[in-house]
Amino acid sequence: MLNIAILGSGKGSNAQAIIEAIAARTLDARIVCVISDVADAFLLERARQHGLPALHVDCAPFKTKLDGAAEQRVIEILRAYQADVIVLAGFMRIIKAGLLGAYAGRIINIHPALLPAFPGLASWQQALDYGVKVAGCTVHFVDAGTDTGPIIVQRAVPVLDGDTPATLHARIQVEEHEAYPAALRLIASGKLRLAGRRVLAS
Ligand code: GRF
Repeated sequence: MLNIAILGSGKGSNAQAIIEAIAARTLDARIVCVISDVADAFLLERARQHGLPALHVDCAPFKTKLDGAAEQRVIEILRAYQADVIVLAGFMRIIKAGLLGAYAGRIINIHPALLPAFPGLASWQQALDYGVKVAGCTVHFVDAGTDTGPIIVQRAVPVLDGDTPATLHARIQVEEHEAYPAALRLIASGKLRLAGRRVLAS
C-alpha cells in the first residue's frame, strides 16, 4: 500500500480531499503522517479529527524555506513513518536540496495554475491580471526550480467575467480536489512509477 505523507501550511482542503478519496476506497493508499510548519494550521486539526499523526515542525529562523534542523527533523519524521510519497498541499516553503535528495522523485505538489503559466505565488491573481480565459491546477513532481517539475495531472476551469481572485481560486480548488486524488491514483496503481520507491517486505 502507498504510504502518503502530507506537508501543508494552511486550511488543508486538499488533504481533506485525499482523506475522503481513501475513505471512499477510490484511492488505495494510507496517510501515514501530516506535517505543518504552522502550529495552528487547520490542516493539523483536520488530521487529528481523522486520527492521523499531526506534527508541527518549527522552521525558524527561516521564513520562506525548509532548511537546516527543521529539514532534518522532517526527513526523520518521514523515515519514521515510512513515507513513500511526499504530498505538498499548500506548503508555503521552498523545498531545499536535503529533502529533495532524500526523497528524489517522490515529492509532488499541487499548483493553482496551468503550468508552465503563472508559477510562484497568487497564481489566480496572475491569471486575472494577464486576462487568460482558462485557468486551472497542476499536480507535478517537485524539482529544484519553482513549480518546474514534470507534470502529472492538470485540470482546467473557465475564467468568468466578474471573477475576483477569491471566486477564481474557489473554482480552481474544486478541480484541485479531483486532481490530487487522481494523481495519487496513478502512483498507487503503479501506472506512474516513483523513483527509488521503498521495497516492501512481503
Ligand atoms: C491550493 O490552492 C494549492 O494549489 C496551493 O495552496 C492551496 C492549498 O489549499 N499550493 P489547501 O490548504 O489544500 O486548502
